[in-house]
Amino acid sequence: MRGIVIEATARLLSKRLGGRLPGGIGAVITALLVFCGVASAHAAGLEWDALEKNYDAKAGEEEAVLSFQVTNRTDHRVEIRSTATSCHCTVAVPPRTPWIIEPGAKDSLAVTVDIRSRRGGLTKTIYVDTTEGEELLLVHVQVPPPPAIQREMNLMTAQADRQSVLRGDCASCHVTPTVGKRGAELFQTACAICHGSEHRASMVPDLAVAKVHRDAGYWEKWIREGSNGTLMPAFDRAHEGPLDDAQIKSLVEYLVTHLPTEPTEKS
Ligand code: HEC
Ligand code: HEC
Repeated sequence: MRGIVIEATARLLSKRLGGRLPGGIGAVITALLVFCGVASAHAAGLEWDALEKNYDAKAGEEEAVLSFQVTNRTDHRVEIRSTATSCHCTVAVPPRTPWIIEPGAKDSLAVTVDIRSRRGGLTKTIYVDTTEGEELLLVHVQVPPPPAIQREMNLMTAQADRQSVLRGDCASCHVTPTVGKRGAELFQTACAICHGSEHRASMVPDLAVAKVHRDAGYWEKWIREGSNGTLMPAFDRAHEGPLDDAQIKSLVEYLVTHLPTEPTEKS
């Protein structure tokens, strides 16, 4: 099911973008085409109030809540058979099931994006399958950086005890999103939150750069034990970390295959 949805989403997305981007035309024209493309893309019979919406989150907000209005412009009943989102952090809730819309009737689809551990701009897609055809809705969320004071306090807490980031309030961003995850998703939620952030503190290294030879043993040791006296926590259960052996194994496999193993030669 998920595979089909991803395939359909990619197809709809490229169709939408394809119409907008005739090669080499400037940003202004592209923007105009974006506008026209969206305005003319209503699926036959079902009219959405918009196919893309923006949300500017306020500092400290944990979720972005939006809704899309849809009107049945046909002379018959339409069923919205399913809605699927691009990640677990985004939930689309139909008003009822089965979701049948009478001719002329208007309904709304509520969409919630979990933005707790996010910064900057993110785009989420909602794939909608209906008896009138398929549609793709986009949500663009802008998440502001937290107040500097909050950041400073988090840093001080971690400096006093590097494991604190995996406990208490900190866990809502640093651990909850990792629960049940493996491989790439685990890396994104457990590691990239620090290592991949464009706003990361200067003492957090870029893992895309190998300074030494990095084999499975190297990764496993860093994940299990972290490093005492630094901000790098220990993730294994033996150190009261959140990851079980199967998760650590999947993460090591991901890292060995997706990140450089050898340091680049200095020329
Ligand atoms: C609202 C989500 C959230 C919470 C809650 C949170 N963090 Fe973070 N943390 C982040 C993000 C995102 C980053 C990446 C840097 C950035 O973008 O601010 C980060 C980075 C860090 C870093 C790396 C240093 C840096 O600032 O780049 C440390 C250490 C850290 N957090 C410790 C903590 C501790 C300790 C707590 C609890 C007292 C905590 N965090 C609570 C989201 C959170
Ligand atoms: C709370 C933020 C934070 C999180 C979460 C985190 N790291 Fe780190 N990591 C650091 C910091 C800070 C250092 C630098 C330690 C030092 O000063 O030696 C580091 C160092 C490392 C290093 C050594 C790399 C080098 O170039 O020296 C590796 C490898 C590493 N982390 C992997 C991971 C992996 C894998 C994960 C996810 C399981 C992870 N880290 C999660 C903060 C974090």
